[in-house]
Amino acid sequence: MVSPGIFLKASLNAGREFFRPPVVEDGEPAPYRVPVMVPIRSIGPSHSERIEKHLLALDAHDRYLRFGYAASDEQIRRYSASLNYQRDEIFGIYNRRLELIAMAHLALSVDPDLTSCAEFGVSVLPHARGRGYGARLFDRAVIHARNEGVRMMFIHALSENTAMLNIARKAGAVIERDGSESEAYLKLPPADLDSRMTELVEEQIAQTDYRLKVQAMQFWDLLGLVQEVRRGVRDSRDRMPM
Ligand SMILES: CC(C)(COP(=O)(O)OP(=O)(O)OC[C@H]1O[C@@H](n2cnc3c(N)ncnc32)[C@H](O)[C@@H]1OP(=O)(O)O)[C@@H](O)C(=O)NCCC(=O)NCCS
Repeated sequence: MVSPGIFLKASLNAGREFFRPPVVEDGEPAPYRVPVMVPIRSIGPSHSERIEKHLLALDAHDRYLRFGYAASDEQIRRYSASLNYQRDEIFGIYNRRLELIAMAHLALSVDPDLTSCAEFGVSVLPHARGRGYGARLFDRAVIHARNEGVRMMFIHALSENTAMLNIARKAGAVIERDGSESEAYLKLPPADLDSRMTELVEEQIAQTDYRLKVQAMQFWDLLGLVQEVRRGVRDSRDRMPM
């Protein structure tokens, strides 16, 4: 359950971000640290371009780990276009430049006999790995799945995918290895007041965080424009004959 203290801290953190200009993240992997709170929001079809951009940024090996095959750009575009936002749930983590740095897809079963099953897939951009985002997206998907009546969550991963299998194992999933591939499944308890409140509060925090990031981007764009105008005025003044 998200305590009021954590809610407050996350909101303050979101507010602090507002006053920092967007930074260009370098390509260095971040040192592993557990984030206090990562705003994870549910994503709708208006973000499909960002989803596509995120997935296209994965290299061939990551695409192989994510989809079980080295998906081509065309296959990724088809996958992004075919996402069913009504049935499934897509979660995302955005940076200050509103780039989707991590996302998860919780696909609910289309088989009417297996309505209580869902499959989880996730990807985190290389420079944002090792910060616990993958694990947090998993936790978020579990809460949502419970609230949707899902009783079993499946994760298909290659056996070499230590990070993904670690996340599933830590959450209590049973992992069955079959050569180079592994299936993990996690039995979920039914929804309760705690799971419903947690999802509600987390979504609220994430939406607030996103809105602040949008405002911050607009603010910095405006500031850039003002500075450009100032520079223009100064340059033309300098060029004027004395
Ligand atoms: C799998 C993936 C989502 C993990 O994301 P992440 O944000 O780096 O994961 P986390 O930081 O939450 O780490 C999760 C666990 O894996 C461990 N881990 C992270 N990177 C690892 C690595 N390269 N090797 C071994 N363990 C690793 C972490 O230490 C952590 O374990 P711990 O809690 O026991 O310390 C990310 O590597 C990725 O996007 N890979 C490509 C796509 C993919 O494999 N998707 C999964 C298949 S659906």
